[in-house]
Amino acid sequence: TVAAEVSKANPEKLLAPVLSAFWDQPDSWTLETYLRHEGYAGMRKALAMPPDDVIAYVKDAGLRGRGGAGFPTGMKWQFIPQGDGKPHYLVVNADESEPGTCKDIPLLFANPHSLIEGIVIACHAIRSNHAFIYLRGEVVPVLRRLHEAVREAYDAGYLGRDILGSGLDLDVVVHAGAGAYICGEETALLDSLEGRRGQPRLRPPFPAVAGLYACPTVVNNVESIASVPAIMNKGKDWFRTMGSEKSPGFTLYSLSGHVTNPGQYEAPLGITLRQLLDMSGGIRPGHRLKFWTPGGSSTPMFTDEHLDVPLDYEGVGAAGSMLGTKALQCFDETTCVVRAVTRWTEFYAHESCGKCTPCREGTYWLVQLLRDIEAGKGRMSDLDKLNDIADNINGKSFCALGDGAASPIFSSLKYFRPEYEQHITGKGCPFDPARSTAWA
Ligand code: NAI
Ligand code: SF4
Repeated sequence: TVAAEVSKANPEKLLAPVLSAFWDQPDSWTLETYLRHEGYAGMRKALAMPPDDVIAYVKDAGLRGRGGAGFPTGMKWQFIPQGDGKPHYLVVNADESEPGTCKDIPLLFANPHSLIEGIVIACHAIRSNHAFIYLRGEVVPVLRRLHEAVREAYDAGYLGRDILGSGLDLDVVVHAGAGAYICGEETALLDSLEGRRGQPRLRPPFPAVAGLYACPTVVNNVESIASVPAIMNKGKDWFRTMGSEKSPGFTLYSLSGHVTNPGQYEAPLGITLRQLLDMSGGIRPGHRLKFWTPGGSSTPMFTDEHLDVPLDYEGVGAAGSMLGTKALQCFDETTCVVRAVTRWTEFYAHESCGKCTPCREGTYWLVQLLRDIEAGKGRMSDLDKLNDIADNINGKSFCALGDGAASPIFSSLKYFRPEYEQHITGKGCPFDPARSTAWA
């Protein structure tokens, strides 16, 4: 990967701040600061191009969706039918909730105009006059900042009627969710936006065919859209100088857990966790990495054997996990893996929307078994039961939440089965005996 090559030649160049280039500046979120850093230059270039050329440009750049699935952004835009006489919508998924994921919210807080500029470009490309930003409702300061940025953009003529004389009319609505993880699933998000209870819809039809109000809709992640202005401004070839052939460009990684300096790190795709830890101060002093997630708790966990896996879609996939949201949660040797998996599974059981049986019932029973094992009340046969229940959720649920809930069960049993057994034979948690009575 380019990341590895750059590392050998010039280690400090590993950090390639684009989205986070001026987050540390005072008033980084204002239009004035954004304009000082080539803000809205990409939009000017895009508005001078025919919409189909913009789509082709983003496709050639190779930008892949940053919400987790890595679907090619330009291809998604191309799916929107043209000349169909229906309104087209852009919906930005800002409902970031995957455990450990913390990159869209900081991006919106520090640099909301990169998203607004990207929205104008995307709406020009897909011929849309209405965009919605569905923001995670708990982050009220971000909501306020986003409202303010949208107002600034209207005042400057970057939103509203006939943007910069291009003929494009565009209105942007900021909508705050009400705190359900499932509303980050794109079709549940659309139902929620329409005023219904947020539950996933059957796909197909995909939103590109029948999305918001049954009209063709592009649902894109915040970081995906915010990456587009730099691509238009600096060029698709520049974007491809970073990352790998199939996963080009820069991206934001969220580093959290037992690390010296948690936070957001922007780097080319294909960087490794070892490189990121080297740059950021490493695991907290005196400790060593035990396990970590490459893309939040929904993605199979890795161990210290995976420190050199390239963090791009192909590299992580080949090593048996998924890049997901690039949420690198690191746990050192003081962490009980059973406790961590129990905590994650409680989250999934709580957030399961209840629409389908495997996920609704399965996550409940996983929690019961895990709590028993953690409290030293488990049996050896419970380990096969865990595996069996997870197997009956995985691939048999209505949406990706079910698969996500099964993933830490499979991977923790794969790498740490002896630790589960220790809880059973020792009748308690070897890491924290006091906790063993927690569920008694
Ligand atoms: P998916 O792979 O089913 O779809 C990805 C995107 O491509 C969607 O927008 C979908 O509409 C579109 N698409 C796929 N096939 C299509 C086709 N044939 N025609 C038109 N459009 C098509 O993935 P999904 O279920 O949308 O998302 C799962 C991912 O979400 C997971 O990988 C996970 O990492 C991530 N995730 C992110 C969270 C966050 O907080 N950012 C929370 C939970 C999960
Ligand atoms: Fe709801 Fe879970 Fe089924 Fe998804 S998998 S539809 S969250 S019950």
